[in-house]
Amino acid sequence: MFPKAVAILFFFFLKRSSTYNFRIIYTAVEHGVKKNYNSEEIAIVSHQTSSVVIKNEYIPTLHCKIFNMTSDLAFITFDTCMIEHIEEECFSRKMVNVTSKIALINNQITTIKRGTFTNLKVQYIDLKCNRIETIEDGSFVNLTLLKDLDLSFNNLRIFNSDAFVNLENFGTLNLRSNHIKSLQKESLIVFRKEKSRLNIECNELVYLDNDVFGGMTATKLRLDLQNNKLDSLPEGIFDYHSFSVVDISKNPLTNISRQFCSQNCTVETFYFGCKGMDKKSLRESLQVIEHWIEDNGIILYTDGYCSFNKSMAKTFNITLSSCKATRSTEERGFWIYFGILFVLYIVM
Ligand SMILES: *[C@@H]1O[C@H](CO)[C@@H](O)[C@H](O)[C@H]1NC(C)=O
Ligand SMILES: *[C@@H]1O[C@H](CO)[C@@H](O)[C@H](O)[C@H]1NC(C)=O
Ligand SMILES: *[C@@H]1O[C@H](CO)[C@@H](O)[C@H](O)[C@H]1NC(C)=O
Ligand SMILES: *[C@@H]1O[C@H](CO)[C@@H](O)[C@H](O)[C@H]1NC(C)=O
Ligand SMILES: *[C@@H]1O[C@H](CO)[C@@H](O)[C@H](O)[C@H]1NC(C)=O
Ligand SMILES: *[C@@H]1O[C@H](CO)[C@@H](O)[C@H](O)[C@H]1NC(C)=O
Ligand SMILES: *[C@@H]1O[C@H](CO)[C@@H](O)[C@H](O)[C@H]1NC(C)=O
Repeated sequence: MFPKAVAILFFFFLKRSSTYNFRIIYTAVEHGVKKNYNSEEIAIVSHQTSSVVIKNEYIPTLHCKIFNMTSDLAFITFDTCMIEHIEEECFSRKMVNVTSKIALINNQITTIKRGTFTNLKVQYIDLKCNRIETIEDGSFVNLTLLKDLDLSFNNLRIFNSDAFVNLENFGTLNLRSNHIKSLQKESLIVFRKEKSRLNIECNELVYLDNDVFGGMTATKLRLDLQNNKLDSLPEGIFDYHSFSVVDISKNPLTNISRQFCSQNCTVETFYFGCKGMDKKSLRESLQVIEHWIEDNGIILYTDGYCSFNKSMAKTFNITLSSCKATRSTEERGFWIYFGILFVLYIVM
């Protein structure tokens, strides 16, 4: 019985390693129809090919030589391919004709090296669910059409604003569920457009420099700061900027300055909760927030634990979201596969 199980596991291993050494199975959408290829290279020669998906292959190092693309392509996705390393300048040389989106999701990437994403036409880069700890200076350079970068569910401890150079149309950055502890002075210069969005919820922020928005030209920024460890909103932090939404709920705020948003500062919608806050500091904080909301006609979302004296007109209840990733179908697939192997092992 034992040898059989070993044979099954070995077969599984062989399948994985052989796809790495010799062939890659990928799906291309051509003329709107999905087609599978089993090939040594990802060759795109038809103008009718709109997207390519490589899923559940074993590609620990992404080598440039696997790409042979002579035509424009809208999307390319590497999903659950165990990618750890990207060969230097692979994307800069081989992905210049990807017009819409590059996705490297559910992989094992730990470092984004300098020059990895340079001089591309792409609008959206998705790197969620990797193990990214380091983003080197100059990792994202001259991406003049890039609007949206997703780095959620990684292991970032710092936000390196020097990684981003010359992103003229940049607006949306998702840093949800990392381990970032602070945002330094002028680190949000990268946001350029009206209605930009920074999502940094579910991190470990304890500190925001009071000049964190210095130099930022984006207007009507949506700022998601919920589920962090911020204890203060310093004087002037939001001054001279405009925000469509500021969500600061689920932070242990004890020290809110009366002047956190007073000089040429606009906030349309504000999320503020009181659950778990220290009672003594809460009273003072509530007064500050209540006056500010009243005087500026701000829409307030709150959690039912705050006791404001006035019943403010535009007040709604927060619906709280969880910080955990919803388990993806691939991961479930893996556990089912593992379960079957285990049952086979027991039975034989
Ligand atoms: C790229 O693909 C085309 C068409 O399949 C083929 O003719 C060409 O030899 C390939 N180039 C390389 C470098 O493999
Ligand atoms: C990009 O596309 C152009 C034609 O549109 C082609 O000449 C060029 O070789 C392509 N570049 C790459 C790296 O595939
Ligand atoms: C970015 O673009 C500028 C101007 O087009 C160019 O001088 C510079 O070399 C580019 N940077 C990189 C890293 O390619
Ligand atoms: C509140 O925060 C300000 C700076 O934002 C700091 O100077 C002050 O000491 C803090 N007060 C308390 C009681 O922590
Ligand atoms: C106030 O803010 C608006 C828009 O955010 C800006 O256009 C204006 O120049 C600012 N005024 C001052 C004095 O900073
Ligand atoms: C509500 O009114 C009481 C009594 O006037 C005062 O002590 C308290 O600070 C007020 N709370 C707020 C949030 O304004
Ligand atoms: C908000 O929630 C509180 C308690 O959870 C409830 O009493 C209140 O009616 C709710 N308000 C709205 C506007 O739904």
